[in-house]
Amino acid sequence: MSRIALVRHYLAHICIRQFTIYAGYTLQDLKQSDTGLTAQLNLAGEACNAFGNDIRNLTIQVTYKTEQRLHVNIFDTAQQQYTIPSSVVPVPNPPPTSYTNSSDLVFNYDATPFAFWITRRSDSADAMPLFDTRTAFEVVFEDQYLQLASALPKDTNIYGLGEVVASSGFRRDVGGNGGSGTIQTLWARDSPTPVDQNIYGSHPIYMEHRYDESNNSSATHGVLLFSSNGADILLTTPPKSNVSLIEYRLLGGTLDFYFFSGPSPVSVIEQYGKMIGCPAWVPAWGFGYHLCKDGYGSVQALRDNVAAMRNANIPLETQWSDSDLYDNQRDFTIDPIGHPADQMKAFIDELHANGQHFIPIVDTAIATPQNVTDIVSPMLTKEMRVQLTLAEVWIKNPNGTIFVGKVWPGFTAYPDWFAPNTHDWWMQALKNWSDLGIEYDGLWLDMNEPSSLCAGSCGSANFSQSGFPGAKRALGNETGLNVMSPPYAIHNGHGPLDNQTVSPDTMHSGGYSHYDTHNMFGLMEEITTHRALQTLRAGKRAFTIARSTFLSAGKWTGHWLGDNYSTFQSMYYSIQGILQFQLYQIPMVGSDTCGFLGNATEELCNRWQMLSAFAPFYRNHNGSPTRHEPYQWASVANATRIAIAARYALLPYWQTLFANASTQGSPTVRALWYEFPNELGLFGIDRQFLIGSDILVTPVLEEGATTVDGIFPGRGSVTWRDWWTHTAVNSSTSGGNTTLQSPLSTINVHIRDGSALLLHAKPGYTINETRSGPYGLLVSLNKGGNAFGTAYVDDGESDPPGDSRILSFVAQGGALTISSQGSYDIEQKLESVTVLGVQKPSSVSVGGQAVANFTYLDATQELVVGSVTMDLNKGTTITW
Ligand code: GLC
Repeated sequence: MSRIALVRHYLAHICIRQFTIYAGYTLQDLKQSDTGLTAQLNLAGEACNAFGNDIRNLTIQVTYKTEQRLHVNIFDTAQQQYTIPSSVVPVPNPPPTSYTNSSDLVFNYDATPFAFWITRRSDSADAMPLFDTRTAFEVVFEDQYLQLASALPKDTNIYGLGEVVASSGFRRDVGGNGGSGTIQTLWARDSPTPVDQNIYGSHPIYMEHRYDESNNSSATHGVLLFSSNGADILLTTPPKSNVSLIEYRLLGGTLDFYFFSGPSPVSVIEQYGKMIGCPAWVPAWGFGYHLCKDGYGSVQALRDNVAAMRNANIPLETQWSDSDLYDNQRDFTIDPIGHPADQMKAFIDELHANGQHFIPIVDTAIATPQNVTDIVSPMLTKEMRVQLTLAEVWIKNPNGTIFVGKVWPGFTAYPDWFAPNTHDWWMQALKNWSDLGIEYDGLWLDMNEPSSLCAGSCGSANFSQSGFPGAKRALGNETGLNVMSPPYAIHNGHGPLDNQTVSPDTMHSGGYSHYDTHNMFGLMEEITTHRALQTLRAGKRAFTIARSTFLSAGKWTGHWLGDNYSTFQSMYYSIQGILQFQLYQIPMVGSDTCGFLGNATEELCNRWQMLSAFAPFYRNHNGSPTRHEPYQWASVANATRIAIAARYALLPYWQTLFANASTQGSPTVRALWYEFPNELGLFGIDRQFLIGSDILVTPVLEEGATTVDGIFPGRGSVTWRDWWTHTAVNSSTSGGNTTLQSPLSTINVHIRDGSALLLHAKPGYTINETRSGPYGLLVSLNKGGNAFGTAYVDDGESDPPGDSRILSFVAQGGALTISSQGSYDIEQKLESVTVLGVQKPSSVSVGGQAVANFTYLDATQELVVGSVTMDLNKGTTITW
């Protein structure tokens, strides 16, 4: 933490340090019920008034929602403070069942001064609570400043609290062990991925992992602060302290916490998913290879690009267009010079005829015409603009005029997603654009922090001023609220809250202020767009990728990690980004492969194209004048072909993982410790990752390297087999660091033992071609000769998903049993089965019939049963 930050840190405790009479709150009027308790919290003595006005009377409501989820909600009894509207982020309210005595989480409290702590029922009495506000500072609850801190075990393992590019890696820096601690600011911000600062999204959830070396056991839990208010969240370890702290400082709202008991990391993420909503179903084509660049400039350049990919035989699933597609950078228009509408239509038709797809960018802000000669969009004619103004679809200044910011096209107005009419006109605008020739298959939502290129209102009139009359929080007598420059200054990387975004004093329909809802703006655009696509493309899965996200955004969109750099360091950071967003329940995530800013070298692009092939969302995008499509270099073309072939082979596995995400909230990509939670050495690993539980990826992240060090978890009991060669990792080093060869155009990928993976046996040029080909099955036996796997199969496009089929594969005692259940008819046959780790068999039978068409490789203990034609709609058994 910098000196300035430290000063601020201690300033925040000014009321506690200077006014010794501040005694926090006292709990009174306790009412226990079958599902929890409610009580009043009344200011015990003098007000703190640290950075606002203390609210004297609070209510605490504790509800055991399920056996694994505990809700602790502290709010102003008068309910004047802002809370997240349930129309934006609904939270399920399970039927009142009494979990008070069976919940794994237990709420405990002190009445005076009020403090609470959460314990795990199954923990021993002397275990440190999971969350504990006793050891830190008293709760402060003011109109513009809320503060609550909890003690944590010293140097504990904390993950989440983003969006962030953290210098400490996926595991956050809690300040002990030579670390400097963390100030995580939550204020959605358009900035090209600065390190350790607030950026595009806000996700005040963390997961904590505790490992007890003395008995080799561990448990993980999660803590969500359900708030969209601007905030700083600090992780510190005070000097000489035997604990670390997490401290929340909010600019408004309430103290609304959810605790998830886990106790495994995957179960914490799933419990959060079930509460916040599981991610949207992704169409199969969304897993294909995406290519984009800012400034292709013309339909001819787009067509040349598609042709160059085809000539290089590099699969291209989706061609994207950036805002050069627009007329003068204006949404919903078409550039008449470089991208004439009829030519764009013909181009997109060609893509579709070839089984490919098209995605254009949609910027959030809408150009406001400054004079009558301005070009206006076909949707937004002058007359319509008048209508839209009357229809009240824009964010307003406090005096009721439309707030004007500035983005690529110049002065812009911002849709007010709270306004009832906004949804319809947004959908109409999208429809008209498509009718005019931009027949998109999905959409790319950019600049939705929302971004502006000036400070506050920068249009022809500057209406920006303090206060927001009529705001939801009903100011009443509480004058002096300062939303433009609140008394407590969060560590916003852009400084003042209105810098490069919409002013916090602007108003939304329904009386919501931008001050309270800023962090939700992107989410609300994503909801509106997803719903519009559901209407416009009825029955098809909506596919969008967005930049600014908030709690629950994964229900509506995927995410790309924003404006990164053509550097090895940025490539490394992409892994922590992908891991973070699994926790945030936005699993469809990936980076701008080869980097957005700067010039990619052949070597970097070679490495990154291979790494991203194992990320959920795989797109190469760039904003610099140099080109870095994979066909620009022969070696990168080659590396990309190899990596895409593996990716498309693994598509059934990805789709199974995503089905589990959409139904259970399961993370599709996992940190190594999720699967091996008792292996101390793994807690900080973020240079390797797992896809599901069975595929371990160990990319080269260093320039000039031809080898890579990887850790092979399982303490030697797991056999990791190379995806490409099927060779087992030298078991003498398994469980520790192993140096692997990794020349250019290779990437180390290993299969865990005990797994069974359904694959596409013949990856094609498109996802559709790939899906039309036969299946293969890859089984990697463990030392006991067992393996297990499942596969979810459906048509890959219906929304909601229609018929589906679940296949399960169980290998045991020299037999592999395939079971098949469901209503989806799988046309393609299973044509080959590969079993690794098997002793040489003398005979093989399929469905009880001896077969001769098998081969055996001693070196890899590999049995391949080929040329079979198995119907996956039925079960069968293969024995050896
Ligand atoms: C933003 C986006 C980037 C896009 C550019 C131009 O910087 O993050 O991906 O290319 O705007 O539209």
